[in-house]
Amino acid sequence: MYNGTESLAIRAGHLTIGGADIPALAKKYGTPLIIYDECGIRKACGEYNAALRKHYGENALAAYAGKAFSVGVMYRILTEMDFGADVVSGGELYTARRAGFDMGRIFYHGNNKTRAELAEGLDYGVGRFVADNFEELKMLEELCSARSTRASVLIRVTPGIEAHTHAYIRTGQIDSKFGMAIETGAALEGVKLALSCPHLDYCGIHCHIGSQIFDTAPFAETVKIMCGFINTVRDICGVETRELNVGGGFGVQYTDEDTPHTPDEYIRVICQALKAALVQYDLPAPRLILEPGRSIVAPYAVTVYTVGTVKSIPGCRTYVAVDGGMTDNPRYILYGAKYTFVVPERADEPKTMTVTVAGRNCESGDLLGEDVPLQQVHPGDLLCTLTTGAYCYSMASNYNRVPKPAVVMVREGEDRLIVRRESLEDLVRNDIF
Ligand code: LLP
Repeated sequence: MYNGTESLAIRAGHLTIGGADIPALAKKYGTPLIIYDECGIRKACGEYNAALRKHYGENALAAYAGKAFSVGVMYRILTEMDFGADVVSGGELYTARRAGFDMGRIFYHGNNKTRAELAEGLDYGVGRFVADNFEELKMLEELCSARSTRASVLIRVTPGIEAHTHAYIRTGQIDSKFGMAIETGAALEGVKLALSCPHLDYCGIHCHIGSQIFDTAPFAETVKIMCGFINTVRDICGVETRELNVGGGFGVQYTDEDTPHTPDEYIRVICQALKAALVQYDLPAPRLILEPGRSIVAPYAVTVYTVGTVKSIPGCRTYVAVDGGMTDNPRYILYGAKYTFVVPERADEPKTMTVTVAGRNCESGDLLGEDVPLQQVHPGDLLCTLTTGAYCYSMASNYNRVPKPAVVMVREGEDRLIVRRESLEDLVRNDIF
């Protein structure tokens, strides 16, 4: 229901997630509160694993993109689900390591990794460095040489694909801050540079064309282009490309307008295109890696707020103000992202109001949704935003010195706190008074 998952249901008029009563959890932990359904996350991981096995075989790995939601418990779940992980900073890497995640299964991303981050990655034994640019390759070679060690690298390339998604989350085109373009020859130069470095092991190539993509065609097109490049690398450099990482970007359903495919369908199309290209270029099958982030977590969480005021401006609109906003979910102010809202204590009632959900922060653009349908709502009611598992907590800020919310995980009806609510003391911890 609501977002195409089984995580959400209505019981006795109340919205539930993972079998747990949302109003009861809001009462227990306070608001704003983010609640995840662990079974949903596990199920999504399982779907990726099963689809990769079914359509490609054993020589494949799904690596969760930690930027979607990177907290300790996630890495424990990923370990149990046999996943790899994509990290993009020393902070994400540290979180994974603290959670005991296998460093050999880490793909270390970032378009501007610092020397210290690269060094740390080497010390930790990171599995793959996804090298974004020439400087990074040179720095990595220097660091490896000084340590008498070797690093395994993937070259991040931009395949020149225009995916139909928001400009800010589009990454596959030539004009991108990420990666080296195939079309300009930079990608080939990157591979050559890696091959010339005695301490770097060139394993393969990586790309990521964008996020929240519904269409399967851009993925098929990407795979074709990537295989063409693998062929060029073989012809010109005489080396085999053993790994092909095509990133993430698989869409989820935020509102009724969104029409994503299942992981199985995205993977079926990717593998079909890959197998055809391998035949076309007579290439050995590389290890296939995917990096889903959003689709692993987004649908399996809700954010619960308490409504403070309901303000009707005649002939204009009705503002429903909640005790969170852009500080825990900046996706509306950044991308105009659309969400579905529910009054969890009256989830079975029809949505007879049209409201604008406003945050609590000092910024007129601090909204969570405009002109959205909602059940009758009054000050003191709870209000839920659905499908907030990705890029909400991970993009949260302390603007206005608002503490970050608590995060709870539910498993078969049992709840546990996985991230404590920030305290006022947490907020001033680094201030020197
Ligand atoms: N791999 C790489 C290299 C990426 O850059 C990303 C996302 C992913 C994988 C995961 O993509 P996903 O499966 O989650 O679509 N903050 C934006 C999304 C930014 C995505 C950045 N890269 C949002 O809230 O929509």
